Amino acid sequence: MKYFIVLTVFALVALSGCSSGGNQNSEEDRFIEDLLSKMTLDEKIGQLNQHTSRWEMTGPAPKADNTQELFENIKAGKVGSMLNVIGAEATREAQKLAVENSRLGIPMIFGYDVIHGQKTMFPIPLAEAAAWDPELAKLSASIAAKEASAQGLHWTFGPMVDVGRDARWGRVMEGAGEDPYLASIISVARINGFQGDNLDDVATIAACAKHFAGYGFSEAGRDYNAVDLSRESLYNLVLPTFKASTEAGVATFMNAFNTIDGEPCTASDALMRDLLKGEWGFDGFVVSDWNSIGEMMEHGAAADLKESALRAIQGGCDMDMEALAYITHLQELVEEGKVDEKLIDDAVRRILRIKYRLGLFDDPYKYSDVEREKNSIYTEEHREASRKVARESIVLLKNDEAVLPISDKVKSIAVIGPLADDKDSPLGNWRAQAVANTAVSLLEGVEASVAPSVKVNYAKGCDLSIGKRTFPDFMTFNETDRSGFKAAVKAAKKSDLVLLAIGEDCFQSGEGRSQTDIGLRGLQKELFDAVYAVNKNIVVVLMNGRPLAIPDVAVKAQAIVEAWHGGTEAGHAIADVLFGRYNPSGKLPMTFPRNVGQVPIYYNYKSTGRPTAEQPGQALWSCYTDSPNTPLYPFGYGLSYTNFHYSDFKLDKSSMSVNDELMCSVTISNNGSVDGKEVVQLYIQDLAAKYARPVKELKGFEKIELAVGESKELHFSLTQKELGYYMPNGQYVVEPGKFKVFVGGNSVETQELEFEINPHYSSH
Ligand code: BGC
Repeated sequence: MKYFIVLTVFALVALSGCSSGGNQNSEEDRFIEDLLSKMTLDEKIGQLNQHTSRWEMTGPAPKADNTQELFENIKAGKVGSMLNVIGAEATREAQKLAVENSRLGIPMIFGYDVIHGQKTMFPIPLAEAAAWDPELAKLSASIAAKEASAQGLHWTFGPMVDVGRDARWGRVMEGAGEDPYLASIISVARINGFQGDNLDDVATIAACAKHFAGYGFSEAGRDYNAVDLSRESLYNLVLPTFKASTEAGVATFMNAFNTIDGEPCTASDALMRDLLKGEWGFDGFVVSDWNSIGEMMEHGAAADLKESALRAIQGGCDMDMEALAYITHLQELVEEGKVDEKLIDDAVRRILRIKYRLGLFDDPYKYSDVEREKNSIYTEEHREASRKVARESIVLLKNDEAVLPISDKVKSIAVIGPLADDKDSPLGNWRAQAVANTAVSLLEGVEASVAPSVKVNYAKGCDLSIGKRTFPDFMTFNETDRSGFKAAVKAAKKSDLVLLAIGEDCFQSGEGRSQTDIGLRGLQKELFDAVYAVNKNIVVVLMNGRPLAIPDVAVKAQAIVEAWHGGTEAGHAIADVLFGRYNPSGKLPMTFPRNVGQVPIYYNYKSTGRPTAEQPGQALWSCYTDSPNTPLYPFGYGLSYTNFHYSDFKLDKSSMSVNDELMCSVTISNNGSVDGKEVVQLYIQDLAAKYARPVKELKGFEKIELAVGESKELHFSLTQKELGYYMPNGQYVVEPGKFKVFVGGNSVETQELEFEINPHYSSH
């Protein structure tokens, strides 16, 4: 309710969500208040100003392009933070300008997009979510933090906690998939990994939950597009990951480029002041996205940069990334009485608080340690961890006639495809300081795994793209050059088995990489068909940053291994799975569609008044006339080399009160022939609520390891926390009535039981 009210009274200058003068109780508060009291308005505004370095750009080129001018501004205390300054030496030099020249010597905070590793690359975040293992997500983030902090960085713009349901949106690669429950758990693990137990620890960095909010719902999957989101979806799908991040103690938030209800998120006092800083009690700071304050003019939501600055500071955006709006206009806005200086004090306080917690006031140079930088980056140990995470991220989508793991009888293997010997794409987009072409390719992984007697026949087949493929250019797909087909066909013909590495170049996904065609681009499908014509024994190794529509390949291939962009050690990790050194256990964090026309497609859809046709081919039901409703591969799906059997699914009661706890138990047995891991998933459905609820909602999961013949009984608890939902007015309710509980190894193949929340029931 509050949200609506706040939106309609936008013009009021909100002071809610402002921390007061600090409670003066802690040493931290005393320090901050003391410093704040010494600062001029100019210096305060300087703290809110963030600049990129001139060495690396992650957005359109900055307007203040003069390096000398930037240096002078730092010395004058007009730059509170920089992004894209990397390296112990570079950060030390830049920090020196602030600390040794500005009047108060306030250190800058250095931020960078450390998304899935700093130099040792881990699988892209979407892939990592497929491991359904918060401990692994924490591990990779902690290693990324270790390496990033050794390069002088204090702060990552991650994790991206946006739930994404639209595979056309290139940034799904940066998130944890389509489900708010899984994404919350993975996001919290990432935050804990980045931040550790103590921000002051030199091997940890501050995290940033982004993009607040709704960015994952950009219309038609087109990046930066407007968002048209119901309140019900906002509360139940979008906000939970952000709330969980706040509860996990995330240090910072980034707001979003998009509008919701036509209002730029960068100006949303309802989101930033009332909800985040007010209701949720967040005490860190909010940074804008790159020039998102300036972009308010493009949105048509501010007449000029001055009005943009006014709206952003009123909305609760504390730091201005690259718009120069605050540094240019806040002073005059205060002088004109349009901005209360208290708003600026609040923003400064929040920024100083995080700097304080990072220990920057004790030693502003402590992260900029050249020795540590030399010794703690890209180590053997980090690469080994990356390989472990990568193999757990792999999802086995198909394995007809148990063609995998590759048997000893296979004496020759053709390794084919544009991605087969690609040492770059596995590094993924948002690759921070990874060195180009340094990943282990599939070919290298296979060659390192096969017995000397096994012949490996490599042929690229075709290039995926032509010309430049890096930021910020679009890729041009190769649609014409088939000159490599002949060698590929030859290699396939003379081999027992084909490993065909196809999918996406890593720069097809990521920021600004939306696509209307999410199939196999360029000549890859033709290459598949050419190979298939001579050898049907094809294992497709998919490398991609989003769910792909591959209906034909899904029918024809013998096996499909979803390897994503797996990071530095990708080739070894894939080989671990192909040769059975690791039994695949990944499960899809996002639904794979049959065709792009089904998108957005997701497992937690709502039923309709006309859910399914009584007979196939009937109209007047909620169906397509030219495609099934069902996906190619559902959320939560992934095969193993062994079989897991689910039995004894039980609920400890069939009726309970709203305050009770329901215990669900199930026994899982490994009745196959190899040891393995299974992700046991628990879903619910509220069968008759005031506001229609999804047909399934994930509410619990556990990844377990079972030896051959072993069984394990698992217990899941369901309480108000899992059984309720947010109504469109933002109120959380648990409604009496019937519920279903489902358990299974994916979101479709489940067993189900029913229970009831009875308003008159008393267990006593
Ligand atoms: C992206 C953010 C990123 C920022 C800084 C923006 O374009 O949307 O996610 O953190 O750039 O690189």
